[in-house]
Amino acid sequence: MARYTGLINRYRNRLPISTETRIISLNEGNTPLIKLENIPKLIDKDVEIYVKYEGLNPTGSFKDRGMTMAVTKAVEEGSEAIICASTGNTSASAAAYAVRAGIRAFVLIPDGKIALGKLAQTLMYGAEIIQINGNFDQGMSLVKEVAKHAPVTIVNSINPFRIEGQKTAAFEIVDDLGDAPDYHCLPVGNAGNITAYWKGYTEYAVDKVATKLPVMCGYQAAGASPFVNGAMMDNPETVATAIRIGRPQSWDFAWNAQKESGGWFDKFTDEQILAAQKMLSYHEGIFCEPASATSLAGALHDINNGKIKEGSKIVCTLTGNGLKDPDTAISQCKDTHPVTIEANLDAVKKAILDNM
Ligand code: F0G
Repeated sequence: MARYTGLINRYRNRLPISTETRIISLNEGNTPLIKLENIPKLIDKDVEIYVKYEGLNPTGSFKDRGMTMAVTKAVEEGSEAIICASTGNTSASAAAYAVRAGIRAFVLIPDGKIALGKLAQTLMYGAEIIQINGNFDQGMSLVKEVAKHAPVTIVNSINPFRIEGQKTAAFEIVDDLGDAPDYHCLPVGNAGNITAYWKGYTEYAVDKVATKLPVMCGYQAAGASPFVNGAMMDNPETVATAIRIGRPQSWDFAWNAQKESGGWFDKFTDEQILAAQKMLSYHEGIFCEPASATSLAGALHDINNGKIKEGSKIVCTLTGNGLKDPDTAISQCKDTHPVTIEANLDAVKKAILDNM
């Protein structure tokens, strides 16, 4: 059997590529679906919660799924440069896959509003970074405009190949669980990912690989919640900078996923999001970035209020790795400063025994 080298090879019969296509891959996908063991006991509810830990992709986020496809197709079509607007993860991913392919990457990011790890990555991969005095939504509209005037391929999720790549996360979940879950919870920003999951689940159901479809639950940050408000908004604000978006590009697709699946949108405060992030690391040993924890914040809220029924199987996507945003993590742990002691046995012994 051929060794799997990334999601395009694994799911090539469900993706728009040919045997001739040069695949640009960093062995993305095949991320772990981890069953939570401690949190269900803590909340004392009869539910199975799984997290799809997308932070273990090559650049630390789910964006790599879409980027392997988008860059593969860009190269196939003869493109020599890609461009995106980003809150950080797309830019890191685009930069890495561009290097892999030997093409240029231009990334527009909001000045001062992307997490440190994402900036570090994008710099190290050598992308052309253009910081704008504006937010993601402004960057996105500039990217769409400039692509009409320069020979660059847009690799934001308005590029349909991004959605094609990202739908494979739903395939992996069904392949792991043996069927679709009852509920799928995920953070919603630009709304490409909810669009992609719904496409993946639907394709598997149509082909009878899955017997059912999940209810899609899209969760947003309170200060950046256009779907919950039912209208696009200016000046979105949240500590979860990855989803600091007021004008989602996949607006209609996301509403379609919500309606067809019988799902819903809801919003959570920064405090609730950070509490969920900490709960996951503290009680399960799983470290995700703030935006990612919005999925768990929402799931727990809706399990508690009975909207998500007991006895269900729930999957939460953890979109990005906790290491992406060390500043926010450390600032949450002010009360747990490490102790500093003398470097001798007595002092170490005391430090341990005092804490037992
Ligand atoms: N979680 C993380 C960690 C993200 O980086 C993003 C989006 C989302 C969730 C939301 O996904 O946009 O498909 O609804 N980040 C984009 C970026 C906008 O530029 O990295 P979505």
